[in-house]
Amino acid sequence: MELRALRLGDRAVLGEVYAVECAATRHARDGWVPLDESARVAAWQADTGWSHHLVGAVEDGALIGFAVGSTGHDTPDTCWVDACVLPRAQRRGVGTRLVRAAEQGSPAAVTRFVASAYLPTATATEELARRFAEPLGYARASTETVVELDLAAADLPARRPPDGVTVATYLDGVPDHLRAQVGVLKGLVDAEAPSGDLGWEPTPVSEEDYLDEIALWRRQGRTAIESVAVTADGAVAAWTCLVVGADPDRPAHVEGTLVLAQHRGAGLGRAVKVASLLAAREHGREHGGATRVRTSSDDQNVWMRAVNDELGFVPVESEVVLQRACAEPGEP
Ligand SMILES: CC(C)(COP(=O)(O)OP(=O)(O)OC[C@H]1O[C@@H](n2cnc3c(N)ncnc32)[C@H](O)[C@@H]1OP(=O)(O)O)[C@@H](O)C(=O)NCCC(=O)NCCS
Repeated sequence: MELRALRLGDRAVLGEVYAVECAATRHARDGWVPLDESARVAAWQADTGWSHHLVGAVEDGALIGFAVGSTGHDTPDTCWVDACVLPRAQRRGVGTRLVRAAEQGSPAAVTRFVASAYLPTATATEELARRFAEPLGYARASTETVVELDLAAADLPARRPPDGVTVATYLDGVPDHLRAQVGVLKGLVDAEAPSGDLGWEPTPVSEEDYLDEIALWRRQGRTAIESVAVTADGAVAAWTCLVVGADPDRPAHVEGTLVLAQHRGAGLGRAVKVASLLAAREHGREHGGATRVRTSSDDQNVWMRAVNDELGFVPVESEVVLQRACAEPGEP
């Protein structure tokens, strides 16, 4: 088995990477439905403020595993690492070597590595953390429960927002005059939602990155459904975004939900979430596509979990987020 760098520009190689990712993920997550190949390749190749480097494990001329390191231009200190190994080649050290190689290929400014894994139960994520990630120096930073809602069956009564607040929903991007404010709220989600030991800083999303992401979703055949609550003086007080694909078997996912601190406690989180879910149901009636919605939140996030429970989301999987600090920047 040899490790080699893989080129993101090589479409044939990305096809092999996609096949490994699908086989490894299906094996780990019962019932998981992938994005289609062209949509997945578009995400790896898109210029949406992330740089990726790929390393492959090759045996007898075939790709048996890969790892990818991804660094966002607004979080240059953090490299996300993801690894996948074909089921037949697992449990013989390939994943461990791939993670180390992806870390070594990361940019010099990186001071920590973060990884996340989804598995059917909390016991399985704990086992993966203990046996695979901890020997590599990673510690559990956050545990999340993934929940799902059946859109057709959900009871979604829209409630009137507080006086003076308007809730509006937009498909494929909010209008120009709301983009900068929405970018600020998007950039606050990770910093303000409980996320264990991850300690994210606010990272406002620029108008350019916002539009690039919307354009990527459109190329992938997906639709962003964003609901915002706007006060009488035009301030965006709450935001949520759902991304809906054309495959009815693959759940739509919630990109994020945030109510600005000074507007919390007035039901705005629930109001924007219900508005986006109703719009997704309507969109599904007209165009087909996702029939279920998935989201996950840290197990300490009692507020988001209360809203989701009330709307009828039920637990389906567990997620663990792991991190490892570098000894020195640039020296994994
Ligand atoms: C996670 C994954 C990449 C591991 O690849 P691998 O080649 O089997 O890893 P290694 O052989 O280097 O495993 C090292 C140790 O972790 C253990 N391990 C690997 N995967 C595990 C899992 N899912 N649950 C529990 N332990 C696991 C191995 O048994 C081994 O422990 P041991 O030495 O005590 O036997 C692979 O299972 C996979 O592709 N999973 C699906 C994708 C995924 O969840 N990726 C997230 C990675 S952060």
